[in-house]
Amino acid sequence: MGDKKVALIGAQGMLASQVRALAPVEVEIHCFDLPEFDLTDAAAVATTLASLQPQIIINCAAFTNVDGCESNAPLAFLVNGEGPGHLAAAAKKIGSTLVHISTDYVFAGTKNEPYEVDDAPDPQSIYGQSKLAGEQAILNSGLEHYFMVRTSWLYGPDGNNFVETILRLAGERDDLGIVSDQVGSPTYTGDLAEALWRLLATDDYGVYHFSNHGECSWYEFAREIIAQAKLCGLPLKLKTLRPIRTEDYPLPARRPAYSLLSKDRYLQVTGASIPFWRDSLQRYFAIR
Ligand SMILES: NC(=O)c1ccc[n+]([C@@H]2O[C@H](COP(=O)([O-])OP(=O)(O)OC[C@H]3O[C@@H](n4cnc5c(N)ncnc54)[C@H](OP(=O)(O)O)[C@@H]3O)[C@@H](O)[C@H]2O)c1
Repeated sequence: MGDKKVALIGAQGMLASQVRALAPVEVEIHCFDLPEFDLTDAAAVATTLASLQPQIIINCAAFTNVDGCESNAPLAFLVNGEGPGHLAAAAKKIGSTLVHISTDYVFAGTKNEPYEVDDAPDPQSIYGQSKLAGEQAILNSGLEHYFMVRTSWLYGPDGNNFVETILRLAGERDDLGIVSDQVGSPTYTGDLAEALWRLLATDDYGVYHFSNHGECSWYEFAREIIAQAKLCGLPLKLKTLRPIRTEDYPLPARRPAYSLLSKDRYLQVTGASIPFWRDSLQRYFAIR
C-alpha cells in the first residue's frame, strides 16, 4: 500500500480498535473522536482533514445504539446520515479515499437468501434509515474513490457487544431467553478490519458486504458463546438457555428477521477466504 497517512474517525470505538491493531506497518494512523472531533461539525471536519491531507479516511464513527436512535432521531441523522457526507466532501476536495461502514439494518429482512450489494434497501428502524441516509450522502457527493462496506452483528475487543452481554448475563442469572427468529451472521471486528485493509490494497471502489461465513439466530449465537465459555472454564451461573420469539422481547427498534449479506463481490475482488463465525468466536475467546 506504500507510505500513507490515514485519518481514523471514531477512533475510540470497537471496530476502530482493530483497524488500528491490524494496520499495515507502512501506514501512519491519525485518530479522531469525540469530544475533540465532532463528525457533525461540517466546518471542523473540512478544516481538520484539509490540514492533515490524509490519503485515506476510515469512518468508524456512528451513533450505534440501535434502540437509542429511536428516541433521538435528530442526532441519529446528524451523525449517521450527514456526518458521512461531510467526510465525502472533504475526501473529494483533498483527493482521499473514503472507507465507510454501513449495516445489514438498511435492509427490511424479508428475503430468504443473502442480500446482494445492489438489492433495494428498506430500513425498518431509525438507525437503519439514518445509516442509509449516510450511504446516500456518500453516493450523492460525487466522490469516486470510496469503499462502502455493510456488515452485521459486530463483536470484538474494546466495545460493548452481544458476546460480552451474554457472558455477563450468564454470570448473573440461571435462566435466559434469547430470540431465535432473527437470523444473521456474527462478525468479528478483527476479520472486518483485515477485510478493510485488503480492500484498500485494491482500486475496485464501490459497495461491499462483509460478515463472517455462515449464519445463525441470536439464540444459536448465544448457545455457542456459552459452549465456548464453558470450554474456557469461565464460571457461569446459567442453567437454562431458552429460544424466544421477537414479540416476547419487545424493543423500541424493529430488527430485520433475516439479514444475511452476500459476500460475492468481496470474494471476487480480494480472492480472500472468509472465516466461519464459530472459528472467529473461538479466536476472540483466545484473546479476550
Ligand atoms: N456494532 C454492530 O453490531 C454493528 C453492526 C453493523 C454495522 N455497524 C457499523 O460499524 C461501524 C463501527 O461500529 P462500532 O460498533 O465499532 O461502533 P462504536 O464502538 O459505537 O464506535 C463508534 C465511535 O464513534 C464515536 N462517535 C459517535 N458520534 C460521533 C461524532 N459525532 N463525532 C465523532 N465520533 C463520534 C463514538 O464515540 P462515543 O462512544 O463517545 O459516542 C465511538 O467512539 C459503525 O458505522 C456501525 O454503524 C456496527
